[in-house]
Amino acid sequence: MSAPDGEKLQKVLARAGLGSRRTCEQFIAAGRVAVNGETATVGRRVDVNEDLVTFDGSRIPVRPGLVHYLCNKPLGTVTTVVDTHGRPTVVDLVPAEPRVFPVGRLDIDTSGLLILTNDGDLTQILTHPSHGVPKTYLVEVEGLPGPDALRRLREGVDLDDGRTAPVGARVLERRDDSAALELILHEGRNRQVRRMCETVSHPVLRLVRTRIGNLADTSLAPGEWRELTDFEVRALYAAAGTTTDADAGTNAGGGDEAEG
Ligand code: URA
Repeated sequence: MSAPDGEKLQKVLARAGLGSRRTCEQFIAAGRVAVNGETATVGRRVDVNEDLVTFDGSRIPVRPGLVHYLCNKPLGTVTTVVDTHGRPTVVDLVPAEPRVFPVGRLDIDTSGLLILTNDGDLTQILTHPSHGVPKTYLVEVEGLPGPDALRRLREGVDLDDGRTAPVGARVLERRDDSAALELILHEGRNRQVRRMCETVSHPVLRLVRTRIGNLADTSLAPGEWRELTDFEVRALYAAAGTTTDADAGTNAGGGDEAEG
């Protein structure tokens, strides 16, 4: 049912960066927009705090005031909001207001891409194992992993919290006594990459997250951040295949899950 006091759908879509109000009206008329799973019609109003809006089947973030930052986490920062040991946190890297939370976690000795946001729905879908949004890592390891080690990484490694799901694994570079690998994980367990590599006898020397879904940015120096574009945010929602009511989360927290 349309929310009588709600905002016009085309206005909400335009604010989410889909196009002008006129363009968004055309999207609605073309049947490309749904509210709570039902195809919307022109004139529809929505409650941005309650209604779930999709465009071409993918979730659109519609609440006002949402911010999404992409930061290049430097080594030595902790992925929490407050650190009891007084160490620098990833939240210190970005504007203090509005308050944002890290999406998942990178170890203190891992660098690379991390999203910080007050968009609890995005946090939920990016950290929930059922969505399996891929995270790509550059992993420098001790020794030169042979075909057997690579096969074990790809097919699953027995860790103390169970066998890992299949991962993409390829060698980027072989050196004298170390190698650079690319690993693509669809699940996120505590220190997973480090534990997997350790288990196949190639301990991690350096770990960098280079990609979240299709999101990459080699121009961000360690410690730098930028806002995600509306398009990038929509692509993250789409990567998670968020089309149902059941996917809706409401908390902006949830930064404690481990990441791949
Ligand atoms: N896997 C790890 O082992 N550590 C990280 O920080 C991220 C993925």
